[in-house]
Amino acid sequence: METLSVADLQRHPAPVGAQPDWTIPQRWSDYSKAEHAIWNRLFTRQLTQLQDRAVPAFLAGVKALGMGPTGIPRFDELNEELKRLTGWSVVAVPGLVPEEVFFHHLAHRQFVAGRFIRTTAQLDYLEEPDVFHDVFGHVPLLADPVYASYMQAYGEAGSRLHEDSAALTQLARLYWYTVEFGLIRDADRLRLFGAGIVSSNGESEYALDSPEPLRIGFDLKRTMLTDYRIDSFQKNYFVIDSFEDLVRRTSVDFAGIYKELEGIAPIAVGTRLPTDILFPPNRKP
Ligand SMILES: [Fe+2]
Repeated sequence: METLSVADLQRHPAPVGAQPDWTIPQRWSDYSKAEHAIWNRLFTRQLTQLQDRAVPAFLAGVKALGMGPTGIPRFDELNEELKRLTGWSVVAVPGLVPEEVFFHHLAHRQFVAGRFIRTTAQLDYLEEPDVFHDVFGHVPLLADPVYASYMQAYGEAGSRLHEDSAALTQLARLYWYTVEFGLIRDADRLRLFGAGIVSSNGESEYALDSPEPLRIGFDLKRTMLTDYRIDSFQKNYFVIDSFEDLVRRTSVDFAGIYKELEGIAPIAVGTRLPTDILFPPNRKP
């Protein structure tokens, strides 16, 4: 496994029991029957919901990686196929990790995943990402070569930033509105690809069908300036044309963009700008 640089490790000492790069063993055999049952319940509910909603590459990834209502996946098994397809792997971490650690893993094609799974009381909402959000939500698309390269490039862009900078906030918004809450065009309809949506039963319907939120054509600077909510469904989503198009639009000199955006006030959630290209919901009200 690739490791973080010495300087990074010194800035962010890992918690007791974790490796210096913050990873921990998945300890798959420690999951209880009840925990596997929660995975199975969530998996079945979401896969049914996503059949005609998720981008086809997501459903293809679920299949290619052998995910099913067959208990919490073993990361070592999942990684065999994932590595073969795109060179990515999933590594377990104890919880949220510092941004710098997160970026470095992404830059090395490693996706950090929570080891724990939510309880039955938290089926519809939880604050910290668990193994269902991280693995079901994020990992299938890592089997797609173009999306896989976007994620690595994102990690590289993040690795060049200092913590607590305005630039980091802007880059985090890009992640939020693509990797977590992105929508994508597919013929004459919209589909889901963001992990925060595909792993949420309520939002996977709302994001496509509700007349409430704005669905705005992706524009890099617009996205990087737009605030977001973490405590409710989104008030605005951004729509990409394709993963190829996303890669093309983000293959830029980010340093130049941060400079351009310096001092510009963030755009409040749910704001409609005259320059926005808007998409209607899939289901007409
Ligand atoms: Fe996530």
